[in-house]
Amino acid sequence: MERLDKILVSQGVGSRSEVQKLIKKKNVAVDGEIVTKPDYKVEPENAEIKVAGQALSFKKHLYIMMNKPAGVVSATKDSRDKTVLDILPDKLRRKNLAPVGRLDKDTEGLMIISDDGEFAHRVLSPKKHIYKKYYAELNGKLTEKMIESFKNGITLKDGTRFLPAELTILSENSAYVEIREGKFHQVKKMFSSQGLSVTYLKRVKIGGLSLDSNLHIGECRELTDYEKQTIFIGI
Ligand code: URA
Repeated sequence: MERLDKILVSQGVGSRSEVQKLIKKKNVAVDGEIVTKPDYKVEPENAEIKVAGQALSFKKHLYIMMNKPAGVVSATKDSRDKTVLDILPDKLRRKNLAPVGRLDKDTEGLMIISDDGEFAHRVLSPKKHIYKKYYAELNGKLTEKMIESFKNGITLKDGTRFLPAELTILSENSAYVEIREGKFHQVKKMFSSQGLSVTYLKRVKIGGLSLDSNLHIGECRELTDYEKQTIFIGI
């Protein structure tokens, strides 16, 4: 059982104060009866909730695409820095949301946030080899030889081995990199092994899902069902 106002907020009807107003002004009915108390307890999956006469179709899980800004950490909690959950708009807040995978604090771009643990596991499972594509800017000159090194799979001095990756050079010092694992600081370490430092990093794609170019930095929106599938089928 959950509070009616919380359910409505979690379903994107409005902010806490907006939905409380809606409830108090007799716009919300549960199983055919108008309810005026925001703390009225409801079992969201079994009740018929109507807002201004419109039935609410309960969404069991949320799947959010964010254009992550630099300076924000991809964690659920942090004592020092803002997290990706802290910058969600009210209507996309609910319990158990967590970032699906990690980006470094200074990395921007495509971040998925969801409260569906099974989905997160499928996206992150090393067995699935879902490609992640990054746009990177470097402090030095990229060479054709690096394309070969990335393709052959880089091994670091400490013995860490990376799977073959695809490097596409865009200019003297910018490139796309596609990797199919998500080791700690992976892209930065791969370039570092080639004597280059990453000066800017942005994730642009996960599987077949591209970052929506209409999302400004820090903005987010729900994924469509189709987009969710493209992660796995690589369209
Ligand atoms: N590789 C990195 O080095 N950093 C990221 O944030 C993601 C991939």
